[in-house]
Amino acid sequence: MGSRIILLSALLLAIGGAAAAGSRSWKIATVVDQADKCAGRRIHIRRLPARFNEELLRNCSAYSPAYDDFCPYLANNGLGQKTFNHSRSWYRSDPAVLEPLFHSRLLEYPCLTDDPSAADAVFLPYYTAIDALRYLYGPLCNSSFEHGVELFDFLLRDDPGIWARRGGHDHFLVMAGPAWDFSQSPAADPPIWGTSFLELPEFYNLTALVFESRSWPWQEQAIPYPTSFHPASLPRLEIWLGRARRSRRPTLMMFSGGGGGGGGGGGGTNSPPNIRRSIRAECENRTALCEFVDCSNGVCEHDPIRFMRPMLRSVFCLHPPGNTPTRRATFDAMIAGCIPVFFQEDSARSQYGWHLPAAEYERFSVHIPKEEVVARGLSIADVLLAIPRAEVRRMRERVLELAPRVIYRRHQSSEELRSRKDAFDLAVEGTLRKIKRRLRSLQEGEVELSAAL
Ligand SMILES: *[C@@H]1O[C@H](CO)[C@@H](O)[C@H](O)[C@H]1NC(C)=O
Ligand SMILES: *[C@@H]1O[C@H](CO)[C@@H](O)[C@H](O)[C@H]1NC(C)=O
Ligand SMILES: *[C@@H]1O[C@H](CO)[C@@H](O)[C@H](O)[C@H]1NC(C)=O
Ligand SMILES: *[C@@H]1O[C@H](CO)[C@@H](O)[C@H](O)[C@H]1NC(C)=O
Ligand SMILES: *[C@@H]1O[C@H](CO)[C@@H](O)[C@H](O)[C@H]1NC(C)=O
Repeated sequence: MGSRIILLSALLLAIGGAAAAGSRSWKIATVVDQADKCAGRRIHIRRLPARFNEELLRNCSAYSPAYDDFCPYLANNGLGQKTFNHSRSWYRSDPAVLEPLFHSRLLEYPCLTDDPSAADAVFLPYYTAIDALRYLYGPLCNSSFEHGVELFDFLLRDDPGIWARRGGHDHFLVMAGPAWDFSQSPAADPPIWGTSFLELPEFYNLTALVFESRSWPWQEQAIPYPTSFHPASLPRLEIWLGRARRSRRPTLMMFSGGGGGGGGGGGGTNSPPNIRRSIRAECENRTALCEFVDCSNGVCEHDPIRFMRPMLRSVFCLHPPGNTPTRRATFDAMIAGCIPVFFQEDSARSQYGWHLPAAEYERFSVHIPKEEVVARGLSIADVLLAIPRAEVRRMRERVLELAPRVIYRRHQSSEELRSRKDAFDLAVEGTLRKIKRRLRSLQEGEVELSAAL
């Protein structure tokens, strides 16, 4: 209990302290650099009452046992505890803490502004998915259609001009979950799963960064799940990538995850055929070629060693859809230099366009339609064995070139590492681009409209 409070106050202190440091360096930057490196990329962080962020972290044990006590994952500014006392870059990271992690990284952003009217984008430091727990596991379980109403009330009441200036089109936030978790119809009674945050017309205009977007374009954009690797300097990043590049890979393919066996994940022997079950069956039949890491019941979630070692030993990593099409392991495996094998487009290609170029998937991944495997018995191993060795080498090299783009580096990294764009940097750039495009098209729409009148 004592250590939990210490960890937590360290995180809160870091958030507060970095805020002061951030605004200080911003003031110096404006004086020194009149050329204005910040033109078009200024971000204002909206001040929100603690109940929308810090207080949610303090209540980290309030939902157990219905939901994990997530206090341990908040250590080290949301990276979680280190895997070992002496590890420098590896943490027991939980994807659910993306919200405080993103917030603390944004406090280091060089182009913050205190003046909302000078901002190109406005960040809402609201820990959406953590607050959703009240609606999913807490006392508000019958009111999930109200998720977000309190926030919007605040935005309208407190300095309403900030939202009104652009009708919220310049606002963005982060949600540590698939958009699906926040897009239940408000009319569903009782709700099937999730809250209705993204379904509130009040929030139609904002940009939400999520782990997985819906298949039709709405306000969200998918960004990578955090992995357990958070280097703080360029040498640490490069040493790891070198290790992944040289790693001996005796196994053709591997899968780590739940399902496909007797346990949960919809893969039990009595359930209808599905891709996870096919993968398990093929792995059990061809043990020399395939490694199956059983992660049922969440045993791998905070124990990256369980899956990173097999990923380093394997040429290809299989990423079948589970409860939803995307998975964190896609990014763990890329960092290990393990070439991804996808079974449907929305597992990655139609999701992470800001981080992994959609036009390039053939150069770094393999696509095998899941119907071919499940319904027609196509052997995954046979498809992969047929790819020429030189081609496999080229693909792995490309995976490792892309890996730095899906890593969330540690807060307070070295200058040298900061010059390399990571998952956070690309998410911010993409958001600024998206908002700019949105505002321009609105403006043009208005011009057209007034010309027509
Ligand atoms: C935190 O927990 C306390 C005590 O249960 C509760 O009164 C408060 O509303 C909670 N705060 C938030 C932001 O959930
Ligand atoms: C790691 O450090 C903690 C706190 O300093 C200590 O209690 C623990 O025994 C250490 N564990 C190992 C494996 O060295
Ligand atoms: C939610 O609704 C169900 C069904 O109407 C009811 O049994 C349950 O007590 C309600 N829970 C709360 C916390 O109000
Ligand atoms: C969203 O944008 C539209 C068009 O610019 C505007 O009419 C509407 O009021 C905005 N919604 C909110 C909640 O501000
Ligand atoms: C496993 O191998 C056996 C014997 O070679 C074969 O009959 C069976 O179809 C194979 N199963 C799968 C799923 O490949």
